[in-house]
Amino acid sequence: MLSQEIRAQFLNYFEQRGHLRVPSAPLIPRDDPSLLLVSAGMVPFKPYFLGQRVPPRDRLTSCQKAFRATDIDEVGDLSHDTFFEMLGNFSFGAYFKEEAIAYAFDLLTKGFGMDPDRLYPSVHPSDETSVKLWEKVAGIPSQRVARLEENFWQAGPTGPCGVDSEIYYDLGESFGTLVDESPGHGERFLEIWNLVFMDSERLEDGRTVPLPHPGVDTGMGLERTAMVLQGVGSIFDTDLFAPIAEDFASRARNLADLPRAQSDRHLRRLADHARGACMLIADGVMPSNEGRGYVLRRLLRRALVSSMTLEVEGGLGPCVPVGVSTEDLASARGAAVDRAAFDLLLEQQREMSRPAERQMQFNIGAQGGASDDPDATRVPTEFVGYDILEGETPVARLIREGQAVEQVGSGEQADVLLQRSPFYAEGGGQVGDRGRLTWQGGEASVLDTQMSKSGERLHRSRVIRGELRVGDEILASVDPDQRGRCAAHHSATHLLNAALHAILGEGVVQRGSLVTAERATFDFGWPRPVSPEELLQVERLVNSAIRDDLERRVELLSLDEARRSGALALPEETYGDQVRVVSFGDFSRELCGGTHVGRSGRIGAVVLKGEHSVGSGLRRIEMVAGAAAETWWEEERDQIAGIAAQLRAPLGEVSSRVQSLQQRQRDLEKELKQAREG
Ligand code: SER
Repeated sequence: MLSQEIRAQFLNYFEQRGHLRVPSAPLIPRDDPSLLLVSAGMVPFKPYFLGQRVPPRDRLTSCQKAFRATDIDEVGDLSHDTFFEMLGNFSFGAYFKEEAIAYAFDLLTKGFGMDPDRLYPSVHPSDETSVKLWEKVAGIPSQRVARLEENFWQAGPTGPCGVDSEIYYDLGESFGTLVDESPGHGERFLEIWNLVFMDSERLEDGRTVPLPHPGVDTGMGLERTAMVLQGVGSIFDTDLFAPIAEDFASRARNLADLPRAQSDRHLRRLADHARGACMLIADGVMPSNEGRGYVLRRLLRRALVSSMTLEVEGGLGPCVPVGVSTEDLASARGAAVDRAAFDLLLEQQREMSRPAERQMQFNIGAQGGASDDPDATRVPTEFVGYDILEGETPVARLIREGQAVEQVGSGEQADVLLQRSPFYAEGGGQVGDRGRLTWQGGEASVLDTQMSKSGERLHRSRVIRGELRVGDEILASVDPDQRGRCAAHHSATHLLNAALHAILGEGVVQRGSLVTAERATFDFGWPRPVSPEELLQVERLVNSAIRDDLERRVELLSLDEARRSGALALPEETYGDQVRVVSFGDFSRELCGGTHVGRSGRIGAVVLKGEHSVGSGLRRIEMVAGAAAETWWEEERDQIAGIAAQLRAPLGEVSSRVQSLQQRQRDLEKELKQAREG
């Protein structure tokens, strides 16, 4: 049975029984500061339960979009997801326990054809009424009903609440992971539907008071129901997830190199997180440091970790059209999709995930622009971005689809050339700046900055509002956050270069690097792997140079002077007569055209994630610095906390618990062998 048929049958069933069908509310709760995101079907109906507003009818049915950030660590098993669809029927004083149980049992068995012997209800230990009702309306004897303390439901810290009765489906012995599987315990019994008997309100001071009219709130998980009705092994094998998971699997380059359980977990996590992120973004959530924006950021971060682990070609972007037909939905609403902008962003994303390193360019001319250019048609942009991030300038030229144009309208993309610019163009391994151009009545996003072959600084921009014309006076503003993060990574590569020389020796020769806002890689010639101890020493030295808060100095010197002063340079690079030398105290001194932090302390800290070979005699170190290093620790901590939670052990005991599990497994294997032999 397809998931869309399950949805339709559920809603029709309750519609035919007097319920009004209402559409899903967005994921961002309206007028409800107690919740970050809509986490259940009842959330939009809280005011109806509380008697604060009158519902359009005393019984409703819906298929509500829901998101549970609390389940994020569980994702990867058979049945947990973050974003999901919840089918529900609701009564506001119209009916209570008996009808709710009768409807649910009737729909599951007669409607969906589930075997009644595989259904196992649970109730709150205080709720003997429901035990009797399960016997009366469904013929399920009292001893088959589990009494569980956790059968009490409330959305958020305050609001309507009540005891509930959950319905579990027995997936069969093969799903069992524990010796004593039972509803609420282990994976064999899958909770598919929760019937909440809302009769109380939890107040801010913790007291619970009765509701004016007891009601019913039920929630049936579409993904889990589809898992049962489609007879598949996990929600990720249902038609709701399979196309997304398959898309990732088809693009994953090292699936075969990982143990099956691990790669499955990453694929499930990717499918869930990519789908969840799309849904959050579609409802207007943007990644940020707090609240729901942080939920999205965390989701994307975790998905990226899985994508990198599986080496997914193209990363997350390409799954979007698979998961959500981004164009069909829009055209149904009479809108169009900006495919060109999507393609550009996708291309950028692909470019970022490409392993090939960009070549280092240290010539000062690379960012400096030419002031006495013999070619009169070339725009010699003056680069002012070493000192300032924002400045006014006239627009010198606009290029759209390879043609010079006089103006660019709203929604269009073009390469904008400026007389002066604070935007750093990709070079020296460092990615190009992003930011904004604003002018009287208009605004454009700068998605990237590149240097053309003839040395023109191209601001790859998209006009968001108004019209941009050649000659217009505009304000060019670099995104300070992205620049700051890139600068932290770039300065960190200089400290790393110096530390490698100090620890490994002067034979280290830098070959290239990639510097982005999120990470840096550093390639160098070295005949053997760097041992973990050496890498740790290098990391410690870099971090101590950061703590020393060394001042950055920049000098313009002749190449000879620079070399004599001991500045590190790339051996194959051709330099101009004058070079830029960047130093941090006496610790590091390098020829460089990139942008840097003012003092080493601004880097915060670095993590050397590892090193590996990228060719004969060529090693690569992967590094994160500053905020990205913090993110890395958070991820690591999350993972360890997740393992600890699974082991039900305090953090400090994880290692000994794993050892004892391994010992237990060895003992059991031995016993099994003896039993087989004996
Ligand atoms: N509110 C309950 C739940 O989310 C039933 O809809 O489980």
